[in-house]
Amino acid sequence: MNLERSCSASDIKTLMVSNLAEILMISADQVDVDENLENYGLDSLQAMTIVSKLEKLLGFKPSPVLLWHYPTIASLSQRLAEEFLAQSNPEDLDKAASPPKTSSTFLDLAAEVVLDSTIRPVGDPTPAFSNPKNIFLTGATGYLGAFLIRELLRATQANIYCLVRAADLVEGKLKIKNNLQKYGLWDSKDSSRLFPVAGDLAQPWLGIEPEDFQALATRIDAIYHSGALLNYVYPYSALKAANVLGTQEVLRLACQGKLKPVHYISSVAVFESTAYAGKVVVEAQEFDDWQGIFLGYSQTKWVAEKLVKLAGSRGVPVTIYRLPLISGDSETGVSNTHDFINLMIKGCFQMGAFPDVDYMLDMSPVDYASKAIVYLSLQVKSIGQAFHLQHPEPASLTSLVEWIRSFGFSIEMIPYEQWRQALIHDVTSADNPLYTLRPFLLERWSDQQLTIPDLYFQARRPIISCQATLDALAGSSIACPAIDAQLLMTYTSHLVESGFLTLV
Ligand SMILES: NC(=O)c1ccc[n+]([C@@H]2O[C@H](COP(=O)([O-])OP(=O)(O)OC[C@H]3O[C@@H](n4cnc5c(N)ncnc54)[C@H](OP(=O)(O)O)[C@@H]3O)[C@@H](O)[C@H]2O)c1
Repeated sequence: MNLERSCSASDIKTLMVSNLAEILMISADQVDVDENLENYGLDSLQAMTIVSKLEKLLGFKPSPVLLWHYPTIASLSQRLAEEFLAQSNPEDLDKAASPPKTSSTFLDLAAEVVLDSTIRPVGDPTPAFSNPKNIFLTGATGYLGAFLIRELLRATQANIYCLVRAADLVEGKLKIKNNLQKYGLWDSKDSSRLFPVAGDLAQPWLGIEPEDFQALATRIDAIYHSGALLNYVYPYSALKAANVLGTQEVLRLACQGKLKPVHYISSVAVFESTAYAGKVVVEAQEFDDWQGIFLGYSQTKWVAEKLVKLAGSRGVPVTIYRLPLISGDSETGVSNTHDFINLMIKGCFQMGAFPDVDYMLDMSPVDYASKAIVYLSLQVKSIGQAFHLQHPEPASLTSLVEWIRSFGFSIEMIPYEQWRQALIHDVTSADNPLYTLRPFLLERWSDQQLTIPDLYFQARRPIISCQATLDALAGSSIACPAIDAQLLMTYTSHLVESGFLTLV
């Protein structure tokens, strides 16, 4: 980048306006710089043309995160000018992280809760509530999905029909198999009970042809909806199709033909509104408050669960399972190395330091979560209930770091502000996974200009009770493994053996 050049917000705005006008074949004064760019209906080629012109002007590739968060020409030009300065001088990176004036900041989540009025029970309920013969599962190629498959295969005799994004059934089956293999769960004798269904949550009718959708609706006895786009960086608008509208299509499938129970995998993030900070929330608690939920992902989970509840009020048998962060298998240590916890741990190891913050390790091992979900889902009395798969005895981040140190690893705990400065000044290449998360970690949100890590300080979080869930599990042998030195050793050993973590 040529640091001698200057590039003001006005330069950027002029370039974007003239290019947009040219593409749309209108005059420059017809371009409204406060209009959401999405509303101009650019196709991806046209959008890319503007992005590459911007890239040339700025001398760097604008992060897609900025493009998501600053959807108008006015806001994006201002932010890109700040980013231009920041790229020239890292000192400015922190200052540049001003609160995004995004459409999501002003998004009325309650108004997003719209469930197609035709989605309501018409047929008789399936008689096979606790003994399903055919199950439909979304998210089968994901982390939790793999463990749900294992537990469903163990606990039922059912065939499992898995929604998979794939060109055809052969590719779909391969994806399911590869995913199970990745987590050490593939057993070829189960293959004959697993059936791919090619489709896409983000499409009407789940991307399935109407006659195939009808045939599927007739065949299946229960639905487990675990699929979602997990991305902590994208805004609501980018996640809505898969997470919100996809849930609507799943509810449509439940009502088509015979009525089928829906087991919906939700998140404790539905309680991220500031209204619940410091308060105990129980499973039966309503969650009408949404103000103060900043992450687009959490916003979609709030709206999607509201849709599920709405369907429940129309007579659809629904059960909700709210999960905290899902950690590794307590027996084998295998975990999803693309998830936020693992990326943070790896990044902090590389920095040689964790931030000294008041965080509780809000996580449950995947084997516990999947066993509990499947057990609870097969109890008729669970219908209409919500469950919290929260860890009953969470541990603090400080204790995690102390355990890691006790294993002989050299890792510091430094004041949060010092850690942030190290993130800005020392994490300067994509070798550290925190590099690509920097816009997310440093961006300031809310009227109080808080960063995402600030927002997750314990005092700003609700206290999630899981007592009713523990009571419901009391008759089973399912217990949540303690978060202790042994569990962390199991996790760390697996991460090191798999080559994900290199420890000095
Ligand atoms: N992981 C956590 O810490 C956590 C915490 C709380 C709640 N949850 C919830 O638990 C559920 C499972 O999470 P996870 O950790 O298993 O996530 P994951 O590993 O990222 O898996 C997500 C699954 O959803 C599928 N999916 C995404 N977009 C899709 C689309 N448009 N059409 C069809 N399938 C699509 C993915 O398919 P592809 O393979 O095609 O991408 C994948 O199978 C989610 O509902 C999530 O919100 C997770």
